[in-house]
Amino acid sequence: MGKLIFNDDEVFDLEDNGSIKPCCEDAGVPFACEEGVCGTCVVEVTEGMENLSEFTQEEIDFLGEKDRERLACQCRLKSGTVKVEF
Ligand code: FES
Repeated sequence: MGKLIFNDDEVFDLEDNGSIKPCCEDAGVPFACEEGVCGTCVVEVTEGMENLSEFTQEEIDFLGEKDRERLACQCRLKSGTVKVEF
C-alpha cells in the first residue's frame, strides 16, 4: 500500500504498482490525451520520486531531462509515499 499526498494536504491510499491517474483526477489534476502526449497532466514531485515507476518513453519525449516533473497519466506508484504538487 502506498500513499500519494497532494499539495501537502490531500492524502490518497494506493495499491502497490497502481496508476496514480485515478487519485490525481480526484485531486483535480486535469487530463486530456491520457497517452503521455499533451502534457496537460504534468505534476511536480516534491518527495519520493524513487517510489514512482521508471519514466516512460512518452515522459522522456515530452519532459526532456528527467527532473521533478512527471506525467500523471503515465506513472505508477511502486510503494511508499510520494508527495506531488500541481
Ligand atoms: S493527459 Fe496528456 S500527457 Fe497526460
